[in-house]
Amino acid sequence: MAKKLFIKTYGCQMNSYDSARMADVLAPLGYVSSETPDGADMVILNTCHIREKASEKVYSELGRLRHLKENRSASDAGMVIAVAGCVAQAEGEEILRRAPYVDIVLGPQTYHRLPEMVARATRAADGVGGAAGHGRGVLDTEFPVSNKFDHLPGESAPQGVSAFLSVQEGCDKFCTFCVVPYTRGAEFSRPVDQVLAEARRLVDQGAREITLLGQNVNAYHGLDERDGEVGLGRLMERLSDIEGLARLRYTTSHPRDMDDELIAAHGALDAVMPYLHLPVQSGSDRVLAAMNRRHTAQSYRDTIAALRQARPDIALSSDFIVGFPGETDTDFEATLDLIRDVEFAQAYSFKYSVRPGTPAGTLDDQVPEPAKDERLAVLQGLLRDQQNAFNAASVGQTMTVLFERAGRHADQLVGRSPYNQAVHVAAPNDRIGSLADVRIDSCLAHSLGGVLTENPGFALEGPAIEVAEGVGV
Ligand code: 5AD
Ligand code: SF4
Repeated sequence: MAKKLFIKTYGCQMNSYDSARMADVLAPLGYVSSETPDGADMVILNTCHIREKASEKVYSELGRLRHLKENRSASDAGMVIAVAGCVAQAEGEEILRRAPYVDIVLGPQTYHRLPEMVARATRAADGVGGAAGHGRGVLDTEFPVSNKFDHLPGESAPQGVSAFLSVQEGCDKFCTFCVVPYTRGAEFSRPVDQVLAEARRLVDQGAREITLLGQNVNAYHGLDERDGEVGLGRLMERLSDIEGLARLRYTTSHPRDMDDELIAAHGALDAVMPYLHLPVQSGSDRVLAAMNRRHTAQSYRDTIAALRQARPDIALSSDFIVGFPGETDTDFEATLDLIRDVEFAQAYSFKYSVRPGTPAGTLDDQVPEPAKDERLAVLQGLLRDQQNAFNAASVGQTMTVLFERAGRHADQLVGRSPYNQAVHVAAPNDRIGSLADVRIDSCLAHSLGGVLTENPGFALEGPAIEVAEGVGV
């Protein structure tokens, strides 16, 4: 009989990808994904450790799951609780100590071994003695020598029109604020043939757009069929030969790894979308050095100029941290200057938060919370104005939209512009998965509206298009 599996995912797209692959790994055991934890036979929390409070959120979610598990046990069918991802990697034993009802704790690099862990955990629950030996949960947070990608099933559940594909993992950059090198481990690139095979499968399953994922994706250096190293630019060239694959994106990148070949790929390959997320964190050279970013504000500007030369219509997105230890008003002004110079279409910004075990956490000159709040508000105000200006400038333009799913109303579809903006268009359902030219005629808080240029008369009957909340631009 089918068993219900509920996975709750926190954090980045890499975690979403991992969650989907965990479901693939568990499918042969009879687990079928479910939308809620109620009545689930197994619940996995796929956690994020990037900023503070992440682990506290996990413990409060675990508290809620404990009640569900107790109710399930009372009605005889048990519930397996697993904590996966970066909090699991960082806290390991501590989770089993604080939440002894957790059955499995596993890191991001070991989830191909889930079936084995489930078997051990359920044996432990039956009193046979589990891996930890004493009826305690199973812990597997190693960084195994052989990598998980060689052991993941060839089969995967379809992801739809826009799919994610993990090509690179881990990070060797060691920015002083960041936990990723500790939780995800050393940098690793999947071989080219493995990436191509997975991309072909995704396209066969209906994907028209693939976003290549990696913590440091543009450091990609996978081996090709002749054992030569291939960079991300060349990898995308190979991928763009796949028939039916219309769009390529990649995230997240480091400015240091925007090499000439990759920049040229933005100009040479039609499939590569004119939109790039390139985190800069700060516009002050002093802060960038203290962050160990290994680039300057000027070299970042130069990279953007080279990208714009290769692909004049490219739009940029970025990440910023305010209140890094030692950041002065002058440093912060330098960040605002950089934002004014570059002009971003979109951005994420955060207050610096101390991460255990990272070098910046031990610095003396931590910035007081109120100063961080103030800087964040100013920074976000400027970035919001730029984002609004970018979206408003879309009105009147004709853009190619990839239709992803049905909208709220009959004959309304939601698609994505090349700049990843959500676009609502009156169009029949059978257009899902196809590209069409759309004239953008409205700009709302989180999305755009438009009409098909080939059939502008195709309109909705009944109420005007209403835009769903939270459709991210
Ligand atoms: N504090 C605040 N923001 C952080 N980020 C990573 N670590 C921290 C931290 N300790 C942000 C960076 C990164 C994004 C994924 O999260 O901006 O690019
Ligand atoms: Fe973290 Fe820096 Fe690596 Fe990005 S490049 S994952 S911020 S250490």
